[in-house]
Amino acid sequence: MNITVIGGGYVGLTTGICLSYVGHDVNIVEKDLAKLSALELGNLLIYEPGLDNLLQKSRSRITFSNKVNRNLLNGSELIVIAVGTPPKDDGDADLTFLHAAFEEVISCLDEDVQAVVAIKSTVPVGTNDMLAEKFGSMLLSHRVQFVSNPEFLREGHAVYDTLYPDRIVVGARDRDAVGLLREAYSPILQRSFVKPDFITDGIEKDLPYFIVTTPKSAELVKYASNAFLALKISYINEIALLCEKVGANVEDVALGMGTDSRIGRSFLNAGIGWGGSCFPKDTSALIRTSEKHGSELSIVRAAVKVNDNIKDYFVKNVESTLGDLQGKSVAVLGLSFKPDTDDVRDSPAMELVDRLVKKGAIVKATDPIALENARKVVPESDKVIYEEDVYKALEGVDCVLITTEWPQWSKLDFDRVGRIVRQKLIFDGRNCLDKEVLEGLGFIYKGVGR
Ligand code: UDX
Repeated sequence: MNITVIGGGYVGLTTGICLSYVGHDVNIVEKDLAKLSALELGNLLIYEPGLDNLLQKSRSRITFSNKVNRNLLNGSELIVIAVGTPPKDDGDADLTFLHAAFEEVISCLDEDVQAVVAIKSTVPVGTNDMLAEKFGSMLLSHRVQFVSNPEFLREGHAVYDTLYPDRIVVGARDRDAVGLLREAYSPILQRSFVKPDFITDGIEKDLPYFIVTTPKSAELVKYASNAFLALKISYINEIALLCEKVGANVEDVALGMGTDSRIGRSFLNAGIGWGGSCFPKDTSALIRTSEKHGSELSIVRAAVKVNDNIKDYFVKNVESTLGDLQGKSVAVLGLSFKPDTDDVRDSPAMELVDRLVKKGAIVKATDPIALENARKVVPESDKVIYEEDVYKALEGVDCVLITTEWPQWSKLDFDRVGRIVRQKLIFDGRNCLDKEVLEGLGFIYKGVGR
């Protein structure tokens, strides 16, 4: 099948590259010229394990262009729109890029072309219907259908999530459009592609569900899923705080809860909270949608509030142990919003750096791959020092904060760490270190609810 993907960000690139890997011919449209020339050289400019490997394997079936290529577009049966929908000041999703992409596609499509436009960008409920209304007159003369096809991939696991999804959701008004989507995804639905070498776990799972619904329901599936995962984390974080008060251990509580198959163990890791390019943006947008429609959605508001409170609690915990933070030096280990990504957007770690600096602390921060992005958000200064080498970041500090659970941290030589820090004090904001081992080495260890 010939496919055009509009947008070369995380979602567009992963979708385009995976669809070509499973056998389709894909043209990815990326407007940013610097990004485009890097892509043409095989450089993705994002850190996503395995994606460059798949790009190399499917190079003969992928083309890149910086604007919609009329010929390729008119030869495409499926056009996937995967442009960004960043948050506006009021929390609502900004649909400027989506409208521009949609308009460009419709204006370049010849009238007799029969194609399906799939909106993969995360868009508020009703966007599909709104587009139908807005572009209705242009669409009358076309044979194009458009559907909602939300994306559920996680950064750092994007290839796995795309090739081995739990479900593919299609919100459509037309049965032919559903048929085309089913055909495009059939290698994934039937798992008939060659397993990439780098994927070793999770391949035994059941084949994905193919869920067909209305565009509005499909749009809401995406927001409702992300908000649910966010509130699951906020819930365990509040339970963690209660654990500290009553003297229980949140890890045992999470295990005891999570082994109930109705609850599930995933997304019950307590810590300094959720961040990234999706949860904060999607919870805000869902709250805005509920406001517009006079629905309360108090549970999502509470999840957002808890996510903010947990960082307050963490900083207060540091202060109550260390005293006034003015002039104290603090090592911050991990800046990305989670491991296996260099993405620092809405990262809890970056938020903590900000809060610590406001309290007068001197932060020595490190991260295996996110330093470059962190520097763009919080420039280096006499208050924030970035170190490539974790041991340099640890030298002479009054305490150590674990802010992203990179596996590297548990492999540190803690004898050496103990010799170079000023005080043997560790606040594990991700509960990823071995408390007993560290206490055995003379460290004071404080986790979250542990
Ligand atoms: C998320 C959704 O998982 C994905 O389906 C959707 O398409 C995009 O948004 P992503 O933002 O890549 O994916 O990250 P995810 O792995 O879900 O983690 C989000 C945040 O929650 C991270 O900051 C992570 O550290 C935090 N988290 C996750 C916890 O604090 N505890 C957990 O148990 C799980």
